[in-house]
Amino acid sequence: MEDLIIRGEKPEDHGAIRSLIVETFRAAYGTGDLEADLVERLRDQSAFGINISLVALQNDLLVGHVFFSGVHIAEHPDIAACALAPLCVSQPLQRLGIGSILTQRGLSACQDAGYKAAVVQGSPAYYGRFGFSPIGQFHLRTVFLSEYDMALALDDGALDAVSGLVDYPAPWDALRDE
Ligand SMILES: CC(C)(COP(=O)(O)OP(=O)(O)OC[C@H]1O[C@@H](n2cnc3c(N)ncnc32)[C@H](O)[C@@H]1OP(=O)(O)O)[C@@H](O)C(=O)NCCC(=O)NCCS
Repeated sequence: MEDLIIRGEKPEDHGAIRSLIVETFRAAYGTGDLEADLVERLRDQSAFGINISLVALQNDLLVGHVFFSGVHIAEHPDIAACALAPLCVSQPLQRLGIGSILTQRGLSACQDAGYKAAVVQGSPAYYGRFGFSPIGQFHLRTVFLSEYDMALALDDGALDAVSGLVDYPAPWDALRDE
């Protein structure tokens, strides 16, 4: 897509990121504050691993955002894993590939940062295209017990001998109660 810039978030993006998350998640699911609060709480702590936050800009306007943060696989503290959430693209610009670019760039930044695996809760039809598979295929499980739980090995074979509970840090508790 022409004129699209993808870069890491800067502190001055925080307000626009919040507005975009609220607007897109409210339109899609009637939520928004929940996901925006999650990002803000995760920004304040990175006990489970570093955060990766990318924005998409078009004509200086923030039109997309993706956030990755650390999670633990309970029985395998040696495997650095991250969760993708949230991902959003400004409504008028959806279905033009921006979400895919943000996801792909984000996954590659996670790989560069040393993450060996990623998890996401989302549509298998959407995240399948980036290589995510249902979490049960990796003998993993989450407290969300959702059919939308998916996982991806960022290093080939990184999840082959891995099983157990994916442990999310406290900021995720609000989503768990939903
Ligand atoms: C999901 C979202 C980020 C996708 O961004 P995007 O820039 O529109 O995505 P892309 O253009 O890269 O991909 C579009 C494709 O994804 C599909 N798609 C978009 N949202 C989808 C969804 N919720 N479930 C399944 N498929 C979806 C489209 O049908 C399209 O498929 P096609 O390529 O076969 O035509 C965007 O629609 C959005 O912000 N939605 C509201 C927030 C949200 O649901 N976030 C994800 C939560 S896990």
